[in-house]
Amino acid sequence: MAINVFVPTFRIDEILQEIRICLEKGWTGLGFKTVEFENKWKEYTGLPNAHFLTSNTVGLHLAVHILKKKFGWNDGDEIITTPLTFVSTNHAIMYENLKPIFADVDDTLCLSPESVEARITSKTRAVMYVGIGGNTGQYEKIIAICKKRNIKLILDAAHMSGTFFKGKHIGQESDVSIFSYQAVKNLPTSDSGMICFADAELDKLARQLSWLGINKDTFQRFQGKEGGYRWKYDVENVGFKYHGNSIQAAMALVQIKYLDEDNNYRNQLASIYDDLLKDTPEVEVVKVAENCQSSRHLYQVFVKKRDEIIQHFYDNDIFPGVHYIDNTEYSMYAYGSGTCPNAARRSNEIISLPLHLKLKKEDCILIVGVLKSGIAKFLKNKSLV
Ligand SMILES: Cc1ncc(COP(=O)(O)O)c(C=O)c1O
Repeated sequence: MAINVFVPTFRIDEILQEIRICLEKGWTGLGFKTVEFENKWKEYTGLPNAHFLTSNTVGLHLAVHILKKKFGWNDGDEIITTPLTFVSTNHAIMYENLKPIFADVDDTLCLSPESVEARITSKTRAVMYVGIGGNTGQYEKIIAICKKRNIKLILDAAHMSGTFFKGKHIGQESDVSIFSYQAVKNLPTSDSGMICFADAELDKLARQLSWLGINKDTFQRFQGKEGGYRWKYDVENVGFKYHGNSIQAAMALVQIKYLDEDNNYRNQLASIYDDLLKDTPEVEVVKVAENCQSSRHLYQVFVKKRDEIIQHFYDNDIFPGVHYIDNTEYSMYAYGSGTCPNAARRSNEIISLPLHLKLKKEDCILIVGVLKSGIAKFLKNKSLV
């Protein structure tokens, strides 16, 4: 049977039961289960604010939109970001007519602090940091740079549900952190995400702007908390329809119960891979940063002749991933081409080995066996450069 890079595990009976509660109550929208899940997420992470959305992508946009509005940024102002990410990260900057300035990555595939510092200009307003695969990289240094230079820190924590740093869940140190609960992430739902602002006032604004700028949500009105004026509300801003709904939240309420257990299993698989690869110098494993208890969304390695090796995997019914192609290779971000040499080089060497809850030790052995036979075929006794 084919082995894929990702396969979600849903606790089906429990999820159906939670969804049934919504259907029986006659409430599937914003409010009710979304609030229950926001409270659970705050309790789990220790983050002060959390607002549930339909995806991480809309959360990234909302984050940039709100910071721009609140702090009076101008069109053309700059956000320093990574070329090694899913395009959502950088599109969110473009949505607001700001300019993504690409900084290079280090060998954890997260932003290099030195490169970030070198890109700061008088127009820099924020750093967009991505914890690739759940890894924190050199995040502490990035936090220090942002504080010192008085620029905002946006954390794209799409891969970081259940990542802890020095014992605390990630996200406490940024101005805003955005998580993804898309179907193959560590806390999988159908599609959804969470935006967590440090500042309660910005959280309030996020709630309003994710519901078209309306100052009262429909669940408040449905419950009749507004006296006789259920139908009455004000629209204070041009907002978006980005809020999550109770069906997505019902899924998330079940999945969060298993998050630590699932991440622990992912880490066990990663240790098995580490062990199987320890005597294979042709394969460089991406290391998890010190003090980082990673969610282990990904298990990434670097290998020369990557494309041939991936084809060899395909020929053996194994379908690994690539996270990610250097975004400056895409036409719309080509202006950054050549500015991030490490990202460009690593982008051609990255493979994400399959990592999900249905994998067993025997699968890892099989996968690494195929990787090694690919190496023997394409790399052994040949120059590695
Ligand atoms: C790094 C990164 N950022 C953002 C996203 C977007 O997340 P979502 O699918 O929830 O919009 C993803 C999803 O793949 C991602 O990997």
